[in-house]
Amino acid sequence: MHYDIAVIPGDGTGPEVVAQALKVLKATASYAGFDYGLTPYDFGGERYLRTGETLPDSAIEELRGHSAILLGAIGHPDVAPGILEQGVLLKARFALDQYINLRPVRLISGVETPIKGKGPKDIDYAVVRENSGGMYTGMGGNSRPGTKDEVAIQEMVYTYDQVARCLKYAFEYARKYGKKTRGVGPENTLALIGKSNVLTHMYKLWNRVFAEMGTDYPDVKREYYHVDATCLYMVLTPEMFDVMVVENMFGDIITDLGAVTQGGLGVAAGGNINPEGVSMFEPIGGTAPMWTGKNAINPLAAIGAAQMMLEHLGQSEAASRIDRGIALAVSKMRSMVAGEMGMTTTEVGDLVAEYVAKS
Ligand code: IPM
Ligand code: MN
Repeated sequence: MHYDIAVIPGDGTGPEVVAQALKVLKATASYAGFDYGLTPYDFGGERYLRTGETLPDSAIEELRGHSAILLGAIGHPDVAPGILEQGVLLKARFALDQYINLRPVRLISGVETPIKGKGPKDIDYAVVRENSGGMYTGMGGNSRPGTKDEVAIQEMVYTYDQVARCLKYAFEYARKYGKKTRGVGPENTLALIGKSNVLTHMYKLWNRVFAEMGTDYPDVKREYYHVDATCLYMVLTPEMFDVMVVENMFGDIITDLGAVTQGGLGVAAGGNINPEGVSMFEPIGGTAPMWTGKNAINPLAAIGAAQMMLEHLGQSEAASRIDRGIALAVSKMRSMVAGEMGMTTTEVGDLVAEYVAKS
């Protein structure tokens, strides 16, 4: 099997952590029976400051020709907030129609969670975040800007198709990776997260499609929770969750909460997935400017992104080997926090790479 991987290291600590992920990828490929080529792209703050370009249309076409994309982090202290996020990250998600943002929330054994009394058995679920619609579509506007009569509108927009394709992915995911399938729970459960008591129009649609589609998945138990209550449960009783499916903005918010419960941004990875196209995998943490160039940032989230990428490409064996490599690294690290790991970024990468190469 051959893969063409596009690599966007990006800004800040992005390049450092991506280098470790690539090291692990290389070690994995040497035994796993696949090979790959890498195409590096320099999109991000530096390029924007140099050329005024974020993610040109020609690049979108090139990215489309790849098997997957590995992204580091995008953001630059000298660039106004929003430009790079919208110009690179959101543009890639939209142009490549990566309509799912998959964010596993899994506490690895040995990683500290801020939630007292909870362990790896309790914090073990996945969030399927809709990634193409909702308030992220940018519909709306400001009338009479700058005056006291200003009106601001930002619409939450969903079509039936957007809802249906997202829910279909979530049901399939729950069937394939749910707690019953993995042998760690009595059933596979999919929880729709929303706000049906207030956003009545929106959840009329989501709830209907959820119930209709659910009849095709008798093996997946359906639940519904309001998003505010979900935040509370994610902290108090995270063990009640298996797979969650959630619209874009709510998903953005709850996955940061999820990330912190799994040990923080140093370990949290996500995938921007187009099941029919090219998908992009990234560590959720940002550019961490204060750690840039210090060889002190935690690369496990980026390595986890590479792991998700391989799982997505169908290399499950290689992916679970990386998982075990990550677990080994965790057992030797003092902390998941940048600067407190008890080892350097490259040492963590070496540990995982050595593990996957020899076992
Ligand atoms: C994320 C980020 C992005 C989002 C920003 C950077 C546009 O917060 O990936 O969660 O809101 O989706
Ligand atoms: Mn976010």
